[in-house]
Amino acid sequence: MKLLKDKVIEEGIVLSNNVLKVDSFLNHQMDPELMKEVGREFTRRFEGERITKVLTIESSGIAPGIMTALELGVPMIFARKHKSLTLKDNIFVEKVYSFTKQETNEITVSKKFLEAGDRVLIVDDFLANGEAAFGLARIVEQAGAEVVGIGIVIEKAFQPGGKLLAEAGYRVESLVRVASLEEGKVTFANEV
Ligand code: G4P
Repeated sequence: MKLLKDKVIEEGIVLSNNVLKVDSFLNHQMDPELMKEVGREFTRRFEGERITKVLTIESSGIAPGIMTALELGVPMIFARKHKSLTLKDNIFVEKVYSFTKQETNEITVSKKFLEAGDRVLIVDDFLANGEAAFGLARIVEQAGAEVVGIGIVIEKAFQPGGKLLAEAGYRVESLVRVASLEEGKVTFANEV
């Protein structure tokens, strides 16, 4: 997606060989126009899939998730990473390990909002090792619903998440694929 690629080139900051900072449009300040285009692009790519829900994870997944759901005309659910005061029982729970942060989070979704027969598009801002996406997919499957696909805004293609998810049979659509962050610069993977 050219618009997004240009934004990464103009505003992305390479923090290390592994981490790309994009807090001016995705992870802190968020660019609504860009998110609108992100929602349109996922909708175009997953056209005909009869999606009934978009599922993401707080917090940075919410912006691309809600814009995709708006475009698709379906609800969006975000998995919580922190215990909610009002969300205690009747929840799906999965453990998600973050290699980046070296911590395990329990993610939760209320059983009220996912049911057998749902056709779910998972959306997230970054794909690194795929742990968050796998955790979300396990929640969908606990509900007896189907993962139609996984939409990622920025995939770090030099980390194994994309390959692992594809091997597990999931359709992954990444709007931008970063091949390397070495030598302080962003190199993109060749797109088809
Ligand atoms: P994984 O789910 O693919 O295995 O990813 P990982 O555990 O490595 O990621 C943990 C957190 O770090 C996630 O956000 C993820 O989006 C973010 N992250 C991973 N790599 C990068 C990167 O290169 N740049 C940026 N900016 N973020 C990255 P989170 O902690 O859940 O944050 P948030 O959604 O609350 O903002």
